[in-house]
Amino acid sequence: MAAIDIERVAKRFAGSVRPALDDCSLSVPAGELTVLLGPSGCGKTTLLRLVNRLLEPDSGRILVDGTDVHTLPAPILRRGIGYAIQQVGLFPHLSVGANIATVPLLLGWEKGRIDARVGELLELVGLAQACRRRYPRELSGGEQQRVGIARALAADPAILLMDEPFGAVDPLLRARLQDELLAIQRKLRKTIIFVTHDVDEALRLADRIALMRAGCIVQHDAPLSMLTAPRDEFVRSFLAADDVLRRLGVTSAAEAVVAQQRWESASLQAAIVPSAIDGAPVVRDSDSLRSALAALIESRAPALTVVDADGRRLGSVGFDDIRRAVRS
Ligand SMILES: Nc1ncnc2c1ncn2[C@@H]1O[C@H](COP(=O)(O)OP(=O)(O)OP(=O)(O)O)[C@@H](O)[C@H]1O
Ligand SMILES: [Mg+2]
Repeated sequence: MAAIDIERVAKRFAGSVRPALDDCSLSVPAGELTVLLGPSGCGKTTLLRLVNRLLEPDSGRILVDGTDVHTLPAPILRRGIGYAIQQVGLFPHLSVGANIATVPLLLGWEKGRIDARVGELLELVGLAQACRRRYPRELSGGEQQRVGIARALAADPAILLMDEPFGAVDPLLRARLQDELLAIQRKLRKTIIFVTHDVDEALRLADRIALMRAGCIVQHDAPLSMLTAPRDEFVRSFLAADDVLRRLGVTSAAEAVVAQQRWESASLQAAIVPSAIDGAPVVRDSDSLRSALAALIESRAPALTVVDADGRRLGSVGFDDIRRAVRS
């Protein structure tokens, strides 16, 4: 567990007219996933790189569990922080196993322990053990991203920084990787800062969303609060809050079941969401998707069970089905 406190940080790159970060503060509680959301160039990557000291701030400070990161040698700090990026950044000349083992090797773990850890991580991110001996170029983009996540988790860091880690994959695989990240997070409870500019991805993954604009954090709140109580017009329009809420309010949970079935038959795919989930929240078919979404976000479950007036199960719907229902 490790809380991150970013206090009044500023950063200006040499030669640029305006600062990349301007008096930026953000507190990420231990064990929570905060999504940094915002338009291109607003400073998301810069903020992440300050946390693991790939960059130094001009002013302000960053604390991890109350310790100023500036007082820690960067290599020691980075051992406690996993970093996964959009371009994945795997070493092309190393096998998947060796890529995942990068940090444990640096830490001088013995071979048996490293082998066991690599096996455990491949399983955690849903890759076959046989991938261990393959090279990055022999994997699909999505598989490479899983290896990137496994590598970031290798030394069991308390903190994960993820910079658009699912940016390069198709929407179907992206949804699956998001589900896997949520499942991993339910199990491991890391402190995660996850960068994206995809609003749907933010709503789906975040315990809290921090929306940035021009080097500042505009609002840091739970997803539903961002939608229902946007601080200003920028937040409202960036999240398309009015539109999403209006449609959620007038669409019933039953329509999400229909949307799910239609999508399943059209795509000839089994739903990503398993059909029966123990302990999933239950909503009535007549409930609005707005309350269904609130239940889904609150429970952190992958899906809801929808029942009719007699309590008969009509189906299970996940975030994607809710999204499809309001978009169709
Ligand atoms: N090394 C650098 N030298 C000069 N300017 C930089 C450097 N890195 C970033 N910047 C500038 O700082 C600002 C913030 O960049 P940053 O990469 O943090 O944005 P971002 O929010 O991650 O954007 P994106 O969503 O496109 O990845 C931008 O105006 C960018 O051009
Ligand atoms: Mg970026």
